[in-house]
Amino acid sequence: MKFSNLILSILIPLVFTCRPVSQKETSNRLGFIAENAMVVSAHPIASQIGIETMKNGGNAIDAAVAVHFALAVVYPAAGNIGGGGFLIYRTNGDAYYSLDYREKAPALAHRNMYLDDSGAVIPESSRFGHSAAGVPGSVDGMWSVHKKFGTRPWQELLQPSIDLARDGYVLTENEADHLNRIRESLKEYNTILPEFLIRESWKAGDSIHYLDLAKTLERISRYGRSGFYKGETAKLIVEEMKRGNGLISLEDLRNYSSVWRAPITFNYRNYTITSMGPPSSGGVAIGQLFSTIAHFPLKKWGINDIKTIHAIVESEKLAYADRAKYLGDPDFVKIPVHELLDKGYNRARAHSINLKSATVSDRIQAGQFYSEPEETTHFSIVDQFGNAVSSTTTLNGGFGNRVVVGGAGFFLNNEMDDFSAKPGAPNMYGLTGGEANAIEPKKRMLSSMTPTIVEKNGHLFMVVGTPGGSTIITSVFQTILNVIEFDLNMQGAVDFPRFHHQWKPDIIQSEAGRFDSTMVKELEGLGHKLSTRSAIGRVDAILVLDNNKLEGGADPRGDDAAAGF
Ligand code: DON
Repeated sequence: MKFSNLILSILIPLVFTCRPVSQKETSNRLGFIAENAMVVSAHPIASQIGIETMKNGGNAIDAAVAVHFALAVVYPAAGNIGGGGFLIYRTNGDAYYSLDYREKAPALAHRNMYLDDSGAVIPESSRFGHSAAGVPGSVDGMWSVHKKFGTRPWQELLQPSIDLARDGYVLTENEADHLNRIRESLKEYNTILPEFLIRESWKAGDSIHYLDLAKTLERISRYGRSGFYKGETAKLIVEEMKRGNGLISLEDLRNYSSVWRAPITFNYRNYTITSMGPPSSGGVAIGQLFSTIAHFPLKKWGINDIKTIHAIVESEKLAYADRAKYLGDPDFVKIPVHELLDKGYNRARAHSINLKSATVSDRIQAGQFYSEPEETTHFSIVDQFGNAVSSTTTLNGGFGNRVVVGGAGFFLNNEMDDFSAKPGAPNMYGLTGGEANAIEPKKRMLSSMTPTIVEKNGHLFMVVGTPGGSTIITSVFQTILNVIEFDLNMQGAVDFPRFHHQWKPDIIQSEAGRFDSTMVKELEGLGHKLSTRSAIGRVDAILVLDNNKLEGGADPRGDDAAAGF
């Protein structure tokens, strides 16, 4: 029996992608427990592939590579080879590494490429179609981590994904819905009809195959990074670009390289938190958030106290205001990381918070929110040796720019939308930015992805991250607080309804059920504006318990699943 079929036979289909949290999920559930090793990811097949990798003797990096490629098959809305991401690795000897495999602007990209003759942003031009794609970083990223830390043969790690793509897997209801929902936009943006569009519609229980993708994965398996950035796959990408007026060239692909960067590390009480530095804004932003919130007695106030929520919201406004002004690609702009994380600076910011009323954000250029699916994906891994991986990867929007590379079978990202197309113009997450995040050839676009690892008293404590665009930072922040300040289990902390403020627009977005009517009144009384929205994030996390067992927190907002042994 093929590995993929074996997995299929033991899977219980889990459904309800991005469903809202329910009352039962605010009741501090205990998550799946494992003795030795665990994977929590967006798809049960991918989690199981990671576990099999470790049972075969692989370490957390081997598992991360296998899980990453598996998600590219079973979760094509966000799992990818045409996108990019960030990975944090903590060895069992306490050493930290962080890899930036974020996409880059093509060499032909330029500052005003999404503006019309009058200087206005052309609606959706950075979001859909060929010119929305950055040069993909995922394959180089997986190749780099494997070269440095992998212990199992590269081919062995690719084989389960090749089998899945070639032999197929069974769609859940959500996955079928997803594919049906993007059908029209796929027709609009593709120059060659993708193989999986040959069917008029999909339903739960159908088996889906990605034969072109299987061939691309085989080339990556055989030739490593060159199987993507050179040869047949590179040729197919560039031909696709030519058919759709895209910018990515053979040279862009050949020159792409992921970068090992210094992670951001800071302390909060007896915890040490390590996360991703620029071009992700995540590490700096959660560093500022923890440094600011440390000045308020959250534990004493409690998780539902209005003072707690108000202090968190006001801290979030401050951090996102700095994000918009200062953060970008460190290879292009000088970022005052040290100053932003400075304890004195954040103390002063904390003291500027008025506990009696909301500080009104500048109303100019308030952002907008769209109901288009947003999809990124995060997975957390702890292996049987005590190593840990936290990795977040994305195409940006769900199914990226909606372009499937003809003959190669994978979606390309629409990461160019993470640049600031014009100072002050909101992107699809309502985020604004300026000079630091302006488009430049070969520059990386600013990200919110926040793969994070937490130590307690020097020992591995939590591996955590999430998708969610601009809400990633606040979801990671709140999930960690839920455990370390409010004593929730890992699963309980993930389940708990979230809220989010990003400075602009000046509004607290929350999941339904987070605030009851009394809390809403009290928050409005302080001057806050509120709105409820669909699910915020899909946090996948692992907690090391006092008895050294591992507890998974798999987000019930999606098909996410923990697996372990
Ligand atoms: O890098 C970023 O911040 C965005 N491209 C992430 C997009 C995302 O999380 C979409 N997911 N839900």
